[in-house]
Amino acid sequence: MGWITKGQLRVFVVVWVIVTATMAVSAQSPGDAGIGDDFYPGLGNGGYDVESYRIEVVVSDDLAAITRAKTTLTALATQSLSSFNLDFLGMTVDAVRVNSADARIAREGREMTVTPQQTIPDGEAFVVEVEYHGVPGTDSDGDSLDFNNGWFHYGGGVLVASEPDGSAAWFPCNDHPLDKALFDFVIDVPAPYVAVANGVLENVEKDGERIVYTWRMSHPMATYLTTVNINTFVEQREVTDSGLVIRNYFPLAIAEQAAETFARQAEMIATFEPLFGPFPFDVYGVVVADVPLGFALETQTISLFGRNVISGTATGSGASSESVIAHELAHQWFGDSLTPATWRDLWLNEGFATYAQALWTEATLGRSAADRMMVSFYSQISSPLDAARGTAAPGDPPPDALFNRSVYLRGAWVLHALRLQIGDEAFFRFAARVCVAIRLQ
Ligand code: ARG
Ligand code: ZN
Repeated sequence: MGWITKGQLRVFVVVWVIVTATMAVSAQSPGDAGIGDDFYPGLGNGGYDVESYRIEVVVSDDLAAITRAKTTLTALATQSLSSFNLDFLGMTVDAVRVNSADARIAREGREMTVTPQQTIPDGEAFVVEVEYHGVPGTDSDGDSLDFNNGWFHYGGGVLVASEPDGSAAWFPCNDHPLDKALFDFVIDVPAPYVAVANGVLENVEKDGERIVYTWRMSHPMATYLTTVNINTFVEQREVTDSGLVIRNYFPLAIAEQAAETFARQAEMIATFEPLFGPFPFDVYGVVVADVPLGFALETQTISLFGRNVISGTATGSGASSESVIAHELAHQWFGDSLTPATWRDLWLNEGFATYAQALWTEATLGRSAADRMMVSFYSQISSPLDAARGTAAPGDPPPDALFNRSVYLRGAWVLHALRLQIGDEAFFRFAARVCVAIRLQ
């Protein structure tokens, strides 16, 4: 017994410093400003998991602005949260509440930090309401942001295309595919406009000069796959042999030609289902925006195309419209239902969807036509690996050129090379097993 030694004192002091520092950190526990994807470190947020979004939007008579909007998120805290971040860019925020109590916010770029009155305990569910308005796609100074930022007013209508990070420009969210959630969309538009969003149309309510469309996406969905489209669309419906409803939305003036362009979707689904498994959602279809677009997008249950798809104009990699239609359909399995955990692995979306174009070609025009397609892909990527020329390894894309052709074409070739190596029988048996394993998850 006796006084403690200097060595013991030193140990005591070190332990005391660690304990008090840890206590201070856990008492003050802000959620991370990123979800942990080192490819795009700022995307998404840490400390919680969103279960559902309800996005209510009132669109101005000229379709140019969001007069009033409210997004309600239900989330689960995965740590004790003194504050947390939402991704939200531009727009004017009118009110933020957490569990019905007013919360403080601070905004910087696409990060909005929300500080509730009380710390949210780890494991607890909480509800965030954000009320806002403005012109999406502009920051608070009224400067226009990049095109790929979600909500886009093109004159006669509105489209939303957000891959990879545009959603935050029109609703506050955890903007990363690692945090999928359920969605309700309540879109209030001037008559006679039609509002189309993901999932099933639950309700249409006419209220004088306004119409409110309620859409429900009841399978988990990544934020980048959300879409809202507004125009004077007409709906065209069919049912596949397997009982899946296809509902397409076409601009009134070109609806007839559009129906022709998209006539083979049921056949495509019948081709893909034996290869990839049953269609993963309860409905499918497309929406054609009344504006030409240099891309198409696999927005969940309702792929988005520009009107140039109709005339048969190519939208990327020299593929025909029919091929692009097959590509976006295949994404519903590869990309939408099954989604990479990091944007670095985008080739798992694009390589598989591009290979599906060859599989469709093979099913309809035969193996030699499909081989010709693969050879043409090969000629576009046969130059040496070079990130700047878009021929880097598909699994290692440059963050500033994510959608480079290697991700698509080399990605497709990964699958074709494997098929050539192991043979059709083993390849398709393996593919079927992978798809079953995915479904059992
Ligand atoms: N995923 C889309 C496709 O089916 C491409 C989206 C392109 N997006 C972009 N930001 N360039 O190929
Ligand atoms: Zn694609």
